[in-house]
Amino acid sequence: MTQTVARKARVMSGMRPTGELHLGHLVGVLTQWAQYSETADAFFEIADLHAYTTDFEDPGKIRGARNAMVAAWLAAGVDPQKSTIFLQSGVPEICELETLLGMITPLSWLERVPTYKGQIEALGTQIATYGFLGYPLLQLCDIAIFRGEYVPVGRDQVAHLEFGREVVRRFNYLYGDGREILTEPQPTLSEFPEVPGTDGRKMSKSYDNAILIGDDEATTTQKVRGMLTDPQKIRRGDPGRPEICPLFALWRFVNPLKVDGVAAACRSGALGCVQDKTDFAEQLNEYLRPVRERYATYRDDPSLVERIVAEGTQRAREIASGVLVNVKHAMKLI
Ligand code: TRP
Repeated sequence: MTQTVARKARVMSGMRPTGELHLGHLVGVLTQWAQYSETADAFFEIADLHAYTTDFEDPGKIRGARNAMVAAWLAAGVDPQKSTIFLQSGVPEICELETLLGMITPLSWLERVPTYKGQIEALGTQIATYGFLGYPLLQLCDIAIFRGEYVPVGRDQVAHLEFGREVVRRFNYLYGDGREILTEPQPTLSEFPEVPGTDGRKMSKSYDNAILIGDDEATTTQKVRGMLTDPQKIRRGDPGRPEICPLFALWRFVNPLKVDGVAAACRSGALGCVQDKTDFAEQLNEYLRPVRERYATYRDDPSLVERIVAEGTQRAREIASGVLVNVKHAMKLI
């Protein structure tokens, strides 16, 4: 009798260790990663090499951000027993694959990825390096080396995936002899929209508008008090417009059950912004409390985090080296 065991989908994603994680990461990315760690065969990467493409002048910052970032992943519920948490630079097979795929990647494909010119405009020509041009190719190799099928990413990364799929198609066409040696990865977009920061722009450490997982409760309350709300609502009694209010947008993530009540009270004027901020700060601290407690535990135990990463990296290498052998066979290198 044959038995079919449903194979779990292979999910792969990564994050650059460039700064502290915040509420936007938590509700937009990490809760989803935590679910994938349960339901899929998931690989989560510390993309340290990608961090060097823009922050090569500051290796200490990249190194310093690594453990804290993983501590936040674990605090958010990513299960290291059921998923593979690994360090990109610890899997040299990724770089070897990048060299090989570089041979068949037209320069024009890399030059037309929108983030290439966009980031140079934003950050300056000092990042116009060979490594930075290759950013999407390295990202593809992160995924392809594990034959990743699904890649949870934000909208800004979809063009990278599209580029990556083209490279995979070209590889399979040139060397596959009718077989799919490499897998075309699919992006899976977060069900959450962009999380606004305290000033209403996208929450980001670089905009200085972020509520950090590492913040204490008093700091959080202070940040919430300083948040932008409907500028036409000056005092309690004025009717507010929740649909344009960043504070209201955050309610949705933190306590969806209260959203309708808050909206109605804001519109009627019964709820003033000061009271709303007090209520929200309390809810937010309550929501973050268990995450922050776990975060502190992992932060205080770097050797535990490092052991998790070392074990994950070893497992990642085992899978990666198998795929690399297939690639080299197909290219007649071995
Ligand atoms: N480029 C991604 C970002 O900035 C991070 C990343 C690196 C990644 N390697 C990856 C995401 C592989 C998904 C898959 O968000």
